[in-house]
Amino acid sequence: MPRTALPRPAAISSDEYRVRRQALMAALPTHSAVLISAASLVTRNRDSEYAFRQDSDFHYLSGFPEPDALLVLLPGRDAGEAVLFCQEKDPSQEVWTGIRIGAEAAVTGYGVDEAYENDTRDTLLPELLEGRETLFLPLDNGEMLALVESLRAELAPQARRGERTPRAFADIVPLIHAQRLIKSEAELGLMRHAARISAQAHRRAMQNVGPGLFEYQLQAELEHEFVWHGAREPAYATIVGGGENACVLHYIENSAALRDGDLVLIDAGGEFELYAGDITRTFPVNGRFTPAQRELYEVVLKAQCRAVAAVAPGTTLSAIHDGVVHDLTAGLIRLGLLESPLEARIDDHGYRRFFLHATSHWLGLDVHDVGTYRLDGEPRVLTPGMVLTVEPGLYIPDAEDVPEAYRGIGIRIEDDVAVTAIGHEVLTADVPKEVTEIEALMRKG
Ligand code: GLY
Ligand code: MN
Ligand code: MN
Repeated sequence: MPRTALPRPAAISSDEYRVRRQALMAALPTHSAVLISAASLVTRNRDSEYAFRQDSDFHYLSGFPEPDALLVLLPGRDAGEAVLFCQEKDPSQEVWTGIRIGAEAAVTGYGVDEAYENDTRDTLLPELLEGRETLFLPLDNGEMLALVESLRAELAPQARRGERTPRAFADIVPLIHAQRLIKSEAELGLMRHAARISAQAHRRAMQNVGPGLFEYQLQAELEHEFVWHGAREPAYATIVGGGENACVLHYIENSAALRDGDLVLIDAGGEFELYAGDITRTFPVNGRFTPAQRELYEVVLKAQCRAVAAVAPGTTLSAIHDGVVHDLTAGLIRLGLLESPLEARIDDHGYRRFFLHATSHWLGLDVHDVGTYRLDGEPRVLTPGMVLTVEPGLYIPDAEDVPEAYRGIGIRIEDDVAVTAIGHEVLTADVPKEVTEIEALMRKG
């Protein structure tokens, strides 16, 4: 009998996209315009393209899912502030690559005020930008810069007559990213779903692992679960590292056989409606932690649980990271991997031999999501609606000066956590991380 699917969360409404555009425009000066382009298809090799992934900022402001589109925002324009250019309807192409939405359905289905097909863009865009002095666009986008240069050339006669035409360019990206940092209820619904699918995938991996299996076979278990539940792509390249491979932070080769007695580290998350899940779990290939593996694991677990518990409005990622550094360093000293005293090992960064990355990053449409980590020179204070990961780890090199039992062990534990008004919500609680819970689930597998 087919399995039942998880209940689907509500989609983002076209009203919400409109509210986002209005919030962005409210922050802009008069006589300005915003240009933001969709992603394009990228060739993989002769006649084959990589799966299309929409640009996150373009998606955030439009929800429009096709490549080669351009969103133009014109604050204060009476005839409508949001204009979209999109691919032409073209039955001879559509029979090969699928139905295109077209301008008419872009207005009815996506809530922009006007839409035109791309073949009208060269004529219409200069007209739309007449009277606009500052163009806001992503300044790191070479194609967009070339486009606005050609627009300026086009509008040179009007400029010579003293009319208002684009004279200044400014970066729109920081404004969009500040907005994206705080997730709406609808976004949190999608993120809960991405997290739940990702958690289920990790449970499946725990229940289907065993010595002799290749790392890519566990990758297949995870990615089967993602796709089956509608997370059609991983949010980033799946990491499955057995034994020492766990010490390579972004190990994506996934080509080795898993060995009896080793741990395996899996860092994998599904992308649902463009929102990322990002979970790491580390567990024994044969279902039982050895005493040494367990000792190290408990150090990471304790630091991770205390860091998750600390997530609340008013604290900072920097303070949470300091707590993790304290707990991991104390554990490393207790296990004989570092020499005491604790404060000295924190001050001289001795722990960095074993823990060399940050504890957290923002999570959202991008796995390493946007938004600055500091504000006015200070660590940014957490507020409700932010979503972050908590992912301490220990990676012990195979070196002669470390106790033999711990050599070559890599452990990371990662959860996705939303900041709420009264504290936090762990989005990825469906996958176990306590030793006894992991071993019990694996026995069921
Ligand atoms: N999967 C990448 C990360 O955890 O940051
Ligand atoms: Mn991760
Ligand atoms: Mn992460």
